[in-house]
Amino acid sequence: MPNLQSYENTIKNFSWAMVEKELQYKPGDSINIGSYCSDRICQMGKGKKIALLWEGFGEGEKKFTFNDIRLGSNTFGAFLRNLGIQAEDRICLFMDRIPELYISFLGILKIGAIAQPLFSAFGEEALRVRLEDAQTVCILTQYKHLHKLRAILDQIPHLKHIIVLDHDGKKPLKAKEIPFSMEKATAVENLEIFPTKAESSSILHYTSGTTGKPKGAKHVHYSLISQYLTAKWVLDFQEDDIYWCTADPGWVTGTSYGIIGPWSQGITQCVLNAGFSADSWYKFIQKNKVSVWYSSPTAIRSLMKAGIELSKKYDFSSLRHLASVGEPLNPEAVVWAEKVFGKPFHDTYWQTETGSIMITNFPCMKIKPGSMGKPFPGITVALLDLKTYEPILEPGKSGLIAFKPDWPARMRTYWNNEETFKGKFKNGWYLSGDRATMDSDGYFWFLGRNDDIINTAGHLVSPFEIESTLLEHEAVAESAVVSKPDEINMEVVKAFITLKPGYQPSKDLELQIMNFMRKKLSPLAMPQEVEYMDCLPKTRSGKIMRRVLRAKEWGEVIGDTSTLDEEN
Ligand code: WTA
Repeated sequence: MPNLQSYENTIKNFSWAMVEKELQYKPGDSINIGSYCSDRICQMGKGKKIALLWEGFGEGEKKFTFNDIRLGSNTFGAFLRNLGIQAEDRICLFMDRIPELYISFLGILKIGAIAQPLFSAFGEEALRVRLEDAQTVCILTQYKHLHKLRAILDQIPHLKHIIVLDHDGKKPLKAKEIPFSMEKATAVENLEIFPTKAESSSILHYTSGTTGKPKGAKHVHYSLISQYLTAKWVLDFQEDDIYWCTADPGWVTGTSYGIIGPWSQGITQCVLNAGFSADSWYKFIQKNKVSVWYSSPTAIRSLMKAGIELSKKYDFSSLRHLASVGEPLNPEAVVWAEKVFGKPFHDTYWQTETGSIMITNFPCMKIKPGSMGKPFPGITVALLDLKTYEPILEPGKSGLIAFKPDWPARMRTYWNNEETFKGKFKNGWYLSGDRATMDSDGYFWFLGRNDDIINTAGHLVSPFEIESTLLEHEAVAESAVVSKPDEINMEVVKAFITLKPGYQPSKDLELQIMNFMRKKLSPLAMPQEVEYMDCLPKTRSGKIMRRVLRAKEWGEVIGDTSTLDEEN
């Protein structure tokens, strides 16, 4: 029996207060995600239950019980507090998916500090911009990533401590670098939990904006209420589940549902710290007897590409429930999964800003392949007219997906950027920036984004950030970045550039530019192709028209070009 048995009955008298009660939280009490995900689970008698089954690429396996997680996070919390870290200080997590990432995350929250997870694949510039914006005071990292920090250290004077989690005791360390080993440190049995309240800051997740620098969506401890219940009803956790969320905690899915969702319910989860290969993923599912699996359309398409023959070599009988997030889930992927795993993928739609799943296919509901499903109980969604921002009432008409900003996990602001945050609201609705339609049964169908942001393999990439980096190269005069279609990643990044006088287009120069970019950006944001142009299409006021270039890549009609400059 799924945890949510009737969608229709539940939405009628739903209230978030029900979840507060289940979690024994009363408004005005302290609520601390770090403590709820570890101490509380141990108090419930599950201290000996496995919390984390970890496997690294060529690094073997490790197991942690909920009591290990409790002690480990205490130990991190005490260590950071001794360094002088205060509540609300921003602490960046910059490491691969090692156990310390998951455990220190809880430790940071336990002392009331703000966790700022960033992908360890980020290059110097991507890292610098985000550390600078958050005025981060401390960063936890691995030795292999230190060089990126050393390169930008003089530009981030607010950073006081660099904690190296895997120092061998021999390699030279530089200013501000402090070695700390979770495994060797004396475990701290009792840590005073900072009495965070519902509205105390918890996590800063950076996401790409259409213009300007990346924005840090600020979340609060009360988000637990949404994350706990969505995990229970959408991921449908049962006591003996082995759960696998394939997302990195540098991304919101990796924290909301790769840490908080499962651990707040005392669910065992497994982590594979390795790149993608169909073979190793199948092996991992079989070996760990994964029962609930949360992944992404790009991963599913990559598995489809590896062929059905490979999948036949493995036993997937442990799988009970599959879900997907991040990009449109093609109907073929839903159908393919039924063939290979005997179960369909359930699409889930949400954002960094929403903090928790908003529209989804519930296990108790009929799936319409290609549809995102229905709103989560307690979520008020509307499709708004693009010009008036008034709700469109007729089914089948496209509109902007918008939400009444009243669910627990919504972001509270963009760090340092209240103005952009306010700009996300119209007529009392939070605007997602996506377009969809709703059918007469109340199912939502994703149409596309309403801005220039590129969604490559589920990762949002800002054309602006890439264009700015391109302009830093000495040969580049102008740049425009758009998406182009791709079989696996759905969209990939393509850059158009014009050159400064004295530079000639060549393959060599392209390579040089790519290498320059690679150092600064994340591999996810790297252009797959650079095309030289004599001039870029612009409006009469001189604004580069990305949509003309994008239409060309997607083979679409260009549309109204009346504002194009004559020269184009
Ligand atoms: C897109 C990810 C179609 C969408 C948790 C959204 C989706 C953005 C889906 C948020 C889906 C997410 N179908 N598109 N099921 N889920 N998206 O902030 O454009 O990294 O606004 O958070 O991804 O991406 P973000």
